[in-house]
Amino acid sequence: MIDPERAAAQAEEGFARMWAELLPVGRHSRSGGYRRHAWTAADAECRAWFEEQARARGLAYEVDGNGNQWAWSADPAAGGAIVTGSHLDSVPDGGAFDGPLGVVSAFAALDLLRETGAAGSRPLGIVNFGDEEGARFGVACVGSRLMTGVLDADRARALTDDGGMSLAAAMEKAGRDPSALGRDEERLSKIAAFVELHVEQGRNLGDAPIGVASAIWPHGRWRFDFHGQANHAGTTRMEDRRDPMPAFAAAVLDARERALSAGALATFGKVAVEPNGTNAIPSRVTAWLDSRAADPAVLEALVAEITRASGAEVVRESYTPVVDFDGPLRDRLAGLLGGVPVLPTGAGHDAGILASAVPTAMLFVRNPTGVSHSPEEHAERPDCLAGVAALARVLEDLLAD
Ligand code: GLV
Ligand code: MN
Ligand code: MN
Ligand code: MN
Repeated sequence: MIDPERAAAQAEEGFARMWAELLPVGRHSRSGGYRRHAWTAADAECRAWFEEQARARGLAYEVDGNGNQWAWSADPAAGGAIVTGSHLDSVPDGGAFDGPLGVVSAFAALDLLRETGAAGSRPLGIVNFGDEEGARFGVACVGSRLMTGVLDADRARALTDDGGMSLAAAMEKAGRDPSALGRDEERLSKIAAFVELHVEQGRNLGDAPIGVASAIWPHGRWRFDFHGQANHAGTTRMEDRRDPMPAFAAAVLDARERALSAGALATFGKVAVEPNGTNAIPSRVTAWLDSRAADPAVLEALVAEITRASGAEVVRESYTPVVDFDGPLRDRLAGLLGGVPVLPTGAGHDAGILASAVPTAMLFVRNPTGVSHSPEEHAERPDCLAGVAALARVLEDLLAD
């Protein structure tokens, strides 16, 4: 049986090697953060690394029709497979841990299982889900949403990036066939359980190095268009202006106040201004609201109030309903790991999408600063190794079932 302390020490060298290999990929020289956006050169480098890890271990490697990468210890055709993994893409100037920690830990856990001769009787799969962050095309968890059919294939193909390139064109450019997108019933039917390990992202684990997820808050993205009229900054009287910027600014402050009093979260993190000239009154401000709350009714009311008060034209671009992770699986993990904290999160994950189709659980690794989606995101190495050991213990148990 995997002994957590011994396993953490055993995993150290392999973890450090994989981590060092990934660390330079897609790192932005000015911010020090990562720009590993879907179907870019940095993403291709991450994907090449994944394939290399799979092949070096003699795992069967494949890419599914939705662009997700898979590595299998044995043919999953007979079903009952246990799958672990996460994603390798990032938000703009994201940290090193969000995503990659789960993929590196998956390979490190597999190595531990092999070293201890505890590989079990079921097939083990390691997955790298494509485009988890939605940094480029606006919708998060594209790979897992397509796989489960939560995102329509035609809608996905038509999503565009800020430069006007469609997701379909970007995939084609990266050598993938976008006509193959869609719900992957066959693959889903082979998976008995999915476990994603992820950095916790919110300083909620306190003194505990690891925890188990109970739920994901409902969350969504809304596009706000504030319309105005472009005009000369030097000749248009203040009272004659149709300037959308003050309405946008008011909406930002309003959203903050309303979220504070509702005990919810509201963020305008992305803005586009047209024509974006210092000496021109804008013709349009487009801003994206990300809002989340523990209670779906609170979230719905909050976004409705922000929308109404803003006067903007508002379109909901994506929405993820509340996710309650599989109860028995969650309890089994918590029990195996000796009563670690069980906690909800406001962050979205592929596990939240998979949960609609297969029994799913998440393991969290402590994020001591609570900073994430930032170059300053951090997790201590001993906590990461405790995560690997915990994942190996959980997989050992599930694989033996
Ligand atoms: C993804 O990381 C999200 O929660 O936005
Ligand atoms: Mn993220
Ligand atoms: Mn993530
Ligand atoms: Mn995420």
